[in-house]
Amino acid sequence: MDTRPIGYLDSGLGGLTAVRAALELLPNEDVVYVGDTARMPYGPRPQAEVLQFTRQIINFLLSQHVKAIVIACNTATAAALPQMQAEFDIPIFGVINAGVSAAAKITRQQKIGVIATEGTVKSNRYRDGLQKILPTATIHQIAAPKLVQLVEKNVTDPKYQKQVIAEQLAGFKTESLDTLILGCTHFPLLAPQIQAVIGPDVQLVDSGAATVLEVQKFLDQAEMRQFEPRLDGVNMQFYTTGAVEIFEQAATHWLNRQHSQVKHLALIADQLQLG
Ligand code: DGL
Repeated sequence: MDTRPIGYLDSGLGGLTAVRAALELLPNEDVVYVGDTARMPYGPRPQAEVLQFTRQIINFLLSQHVKAIVIACNTATAAALPQMQAEFDIPIFGVINAGVSAAAKITRQQKIGVIATEGTVKSNRYRDGLQKILPTATIHQIAAPKLVQLVEKNVTDPKYQKQVIAEQLAGFKTESLDTLILGCTHFPLLAPQIQAVIGPDVQLVDSGAATVLEVQKFLDQAEMRQFEPRLDGVNMQFYTTGAVEIFEQAATHWLNRQHSQVKHLALIADQLQLG
């Protein structure tokens, strides 16, 4: 058993969908979360830049003595996962492979859609991963960056949400999908609204939640899972490079908690530090 926390990172709030799944599947594991809100969105940024940001966050998470790291961001996974795994001596998980496997398992007609950021779509990691397992599948990828903004800006007007989602998914009209991968960790926060637009027959895949299952298996095999419940609940430490109060409200809301402790991180001499 290893009592150290698990580290999660995202460009903003999206990775909280993985944490939400972890609260169910790994209920005794402490959490350290970094949301790089000041530099989001990652989607339109060059790959090298996203890789550099990811490296900075991983270095910070290591300073917090985490036992494993989940890159709970598809864009950062697409840009940096193999390199980060090679550079750092700690188990690092990305969200793409688990999403690919989950979709390959549940698709009935092998008609799979992917919605993600521009960076993830450009990387073709979902398409390539799916084609390896299902060489005859039809795969249609669409970049839907406006959905990231709906979440980060906390847009709750149902009419406007529906309008933006319909606009972003319009490219799927002529396709008849049976499975849609939510290839950005922000998107599960809009899952009911996306389902309403795409129709009830399409199965949605949450890649962050699928990843947490993988982490659970790994911790069990490595005998690193924390089984004993914490007396006063799990310890969750949140960090953001953006506005602390906004992050605090969002984390409290999305994780259904009474309070979330959030601290600010500043970039000083190429390192993320408290301040
Ligand atoms: N949540 C992130 C992802 O999974 C990206 C959002 C963004 O910063 O563009 O790709």
